[in-house]
Amino acid sequence: MADNSKMTRPLSDFSRPLLDWYDAYHRVLPWREEPTPYRVWVSEIMLQQTRVEAVKPYFARFMQELPTVEALAECPPEHLNKLWEGLGYYSRVRNMQKAAQVICSTYGGEIPSSVDALLALPGIGSYTAGAIASFAYGVPAPAVDGNVLRVLARVRSDKRNILDPRVKREYEELLSSVIPSDRPGDYNQALIELGATLCGPNLPPECDKCPIRDHCQGYREGVAPSLPVREKKKPRRKETRTVLLICDGAHVLLTRRPDTGLLAGLYEFPSFEGVMTEADILAYVRQLGLEPLKLAAASTAKHIFTHVEWHMTGYEVAIGDTTLPVGSTLTIDDRTYVVADTATLESTYAIPSAYSKFLARFQVDKGSKRIKQQR
Ligand code: ADE
Repeated sequence: MADNSKMTRPLSDFSRPLLDWYDAYHRVLPWREEPTPYRVWVSEIMLQQTRVEAVKPYFARFMQELPTVEALAECPPEHLNKLWEGLGYYSRVRNMQKAAQVICSTYGGEIPSSVDALLALPGIGSYTAGAIASFAYGVPAPAVDGNVLRVLARVRSDKRNILDPRVKREYEELLSSVIPSDRPGDYNQALIELGATLCGPNLPPECDKCPIRDHCQGYREGVAPSLPVREKKKPRRKETRTVLLICDGAHVLLTRRPDTGLLAGLYEFPSFEGVMTEADILAYVRQLGLEPLKLAAASTAKHIFTHVEWHMTGYEVAIGDTTLPVGSTLTIDDRTYVVADTATLESTYAIPSAYSKFLARFQVDKGSKRIKQQR
């Protein structure tokens, strides 16, 4: 085991080769080209848990529809969820809106530049605060995300668990004393870029191309590929769920999730924890005042959240043609249901990607406007 009292060792100053490499090789990304505080903020929130390539179209659409902090603060929540649909972790966008409202009421719509003021806003942690302050305002603050932790753990041959918040805090302090004051944003971006590319996750590091190899203890010891150490505390809970696709020829029933908790306020197919028998399903559908005509097992699907895994089995329940108009709602036992058709499934209701396999079964048959179910 290596010496773990890392605080006594200063961080090697590799800023020159790192910045030269960044200048020569960095990826051109929309939020880097025009790093306004708002664009940096939105992009960094999207990039948490989402790949750069996946973020690009979401970022472009978000900026087009909500180009200012004011527009974000005033956006109807359902529309906001729709703009976020597919990115997951919806609390990110809810917090962003709350922060936008505070920025409007407290700072006249100007995103603050100090790390402390940024940290006081909902959904902004030390990484995002450092990113906004340094990329957009040139403040020499550290921005330590998973990419940076990976690089630093390798550079220092640090075998500690990088998921331990104390390790991150220590690296933030170490970086604070070496960030070059003339290019703090580029320095942080360069570390992130290195950790996302040559020193990236999943593949072995490309040390032969690395600009700071001469500063890397992990490389010298031949242990860089096995670092960093990431030890999760608790295993994820596995939850078995039954998902009901209650559908006549042209409509499908959705329900709105509660306002708090996982996927709060989003829409889903009526779903229940546990395994439902066919008799349970039929009884449930009749309780909604609908007449089940046919019941068939549909696909199974799995979705992994941070703390829980959903193992879902879907059932298609064909019902007689409903007379309920599209968009009408019914509330039964504290649950609100809404009648959707192919158009509103697409345009109106934000449905989390956990259900995408089931959603794919409902495709618009444009000629007839009827729901065409895919096998
Ligand atoms: N991942 C997180 N933040 C990033 C950024 N600013 N550029 C590229 N990848 C990132």
